[in-house]
Amino acid sequence: MPVFYNIPRSVFRAGLHINEKLVRISTMEQKTNAAERIIRRFGGQSALAALLGKRQSTIEHWARTGRVPAQWQVPLMSLGRQRGVILEAKDFVEPKPNPIQPAEGRLGILLVGLGAVASTFISGVEHARRGSGRPVGSLTQMGTIRLGKRTENRSPLIREFVPLANLDDIVFGAWDPFPDNAYEAAVKCGVLDRHKHIEPIADFLKSIEPMPAAFDQHYVKRLNGPNVKRGTKREQTEQIRADIRHFKSANECDRLVMAWCASTEIYIAEGPSHLTLESFETALDANDETIALSMLYAYAALMEGIPFANGAPNLTADIPALVKLATDQGVPICGKDFKTGQTLIKTVLAPMLKARMLGLNGWYSTNILGNRDGEVLDDPESFKTKEESKLGVLEDILQPQLYPELYGDVYHKVRINYYPPRGDDKEGWDNLDIFGWLGYPMQIKINFLCRDSILAAPLLLDVALFLDLAKRAGMKGIQEWLSFYFKSPQHAATVYPEQDVFIQQTKLKNTLRWMVGEDQITHLGREYYQDDQEE
Ligand SMILES: NC(=O)c1ccc[n+]([C@@H]2O[C@H](COP(=O)([O-])OP(=O)(O)OC[C@H]3O[C@@H](n4cnc5c(N)ncnc54)[C@H](O)[C@@H]3O)[C@@H](O)[C@H]2O)c1
Repeated sequence: MPVFYNIPRSVFRAGLHINEKLVRISTMEQKTNAAERIIRRFGGQSALAALLGKRQSTIEHWARTGRVPAQWQVPLMSLGRQRGVILEAKDFVEPKPNPIQPAEGRLGILLVGLGAVASTFISGVEHARRGSGRPVGSLTQMGTIRLGKRTENRSPLIREFVPLANLDDIVFGAWDPFPDNAYEAAVKCGVLDRHKHIEPIADFLKSIEPMPAAFDQHYVKRLNGPNVKRGTKREQTEQIRADIRHFKSANECDRLVMAWCASTEIYIAEGPSHLTLESFETALDANDETIALSMLYAYAALMEGIPFANGAPNLTADIPALVKLATDQGVPICGKDFKTGQTLIKTVLAPMLKARMLGLNGWYSTNILGNRDGEVLDDPESFKTKEESKLGVLEDILQPQLYPELYGDVYHKVRINYYPPRGDDKEGWDNLDIFGWLGYPMQIKINFLCRDSILAAPLLLDVALFLDLAKRAGMKGIQEWLSFYFKSPQHAATVYPEQDVFIQQTKLKNTLRWMVGEDQITHLGREYYQDDQEE
């Protein structure tokens, strides 16, 4: 029995497709016109009438017609400036976001790698569909979004606000160099309780068998599996494209997304072969070493018009050639490296230090981890890729160039230690040497006993659903609004990445509001404190 949280009974009674109905409900709820939105920002109709010295019926007329007459637009902007309500010319025009295609039909989620993260993700989605588990940690399934002023009390569920694919409409595909099906992978990874969460859905998990992978031990030193493709890099790319098409038709999918949740590859720096599509394809045809296997999947996805996410720190689609290809193909992409344990904590604590102007001398992060990911990261070349991803975060947040006294000389160390007895149950320790008033030193210690894949699985779900939404909304290229999910967010070459998790969350929610033409939330809030306000 599938679960639908907080969905009105009438939706079921009407017998309509659930997404279709929800899109209509949310559209009805959120429909306000440009004039109404402006009036609301001044505290309502009578408040604005009083401020302008006009009759309320005039303001009512503006609300009814949806237009503020041209001669009133400049006076309103200057009144806004006086009262802390920032208005721009575009606020007087009805915004026209791209129409979002409905989430009709089946969504295929293609997973590169069928290991701990992927099998935990698939199992969790299946339990959520059957009502035997809750998708905790997933913003798309459990999160709400505030609309309008705080006094309006409008906070729909995100999945009722934007048309997301329904969990029931998802089908899974995967590639892996090991032939284990999702059941065997879940058992071997040891993340989930076998009795409670694997055996009850065993038949379903056994039905998901990995396709042969494009794999080469040169890029992941600690692994070697038999379920692999043969041929040149170009030939393997064509085989991946054929897999995609075959999966789509065999599973009757309407749309697909692809996510890399395979092992971390060795460190590869961006080089000449990554700069343009021509240089990329030339290198691909020449079997060049700088074209990692993950790039074959990304390139294949983009050529097939499929959104691509990178859950690991590999360079993959974060190169000018593939960013340009994504834009040219009208395909959204995002990455890199899911922000789960220690880095999540780091991107919460570092903004706190900066917000309070507390100094930092050093931050030492170490952890023990015993799963296959830990084994792969035990190889120095794969660790270097991960280390780069984890190290960049502090500098981006603390901006030592702006605050040299506080953050100009931070010693930042990140260690990952492979320790098999712990399996997926990672234990992380952080020690922060900070300083305050007059330079007096203090320390913060954190001991996080987390479960790596339990934290990563909901991120994978959200990223897949949001990428599919972005594609249906006509968004293409890098989706910086999905930075929220990543340790090394892909970003435009002209800006630094936004790493603060709360700024990332605001960016994500404002993007959703923008997509459906709702007001952005600036948190200015002056209108609540006007003496003569109405509402
Ligand atoms: N779990 C987390 O919290 C977390 C957070 C951020 C990033 N990650 C990253 O996500 C990735 C997956 O993590 P995991 O814990 O599931 O690891 P895992 O080792 O359990 O699974 C990875 C799977 O990828 C397969 N693989 C390797 N190369 C492949 C290729 N070329 N094509 C297809 N499959 C391939 C491996 O055989 C393995 O089964 C890792 O790169 C990890 O660093 C995990």
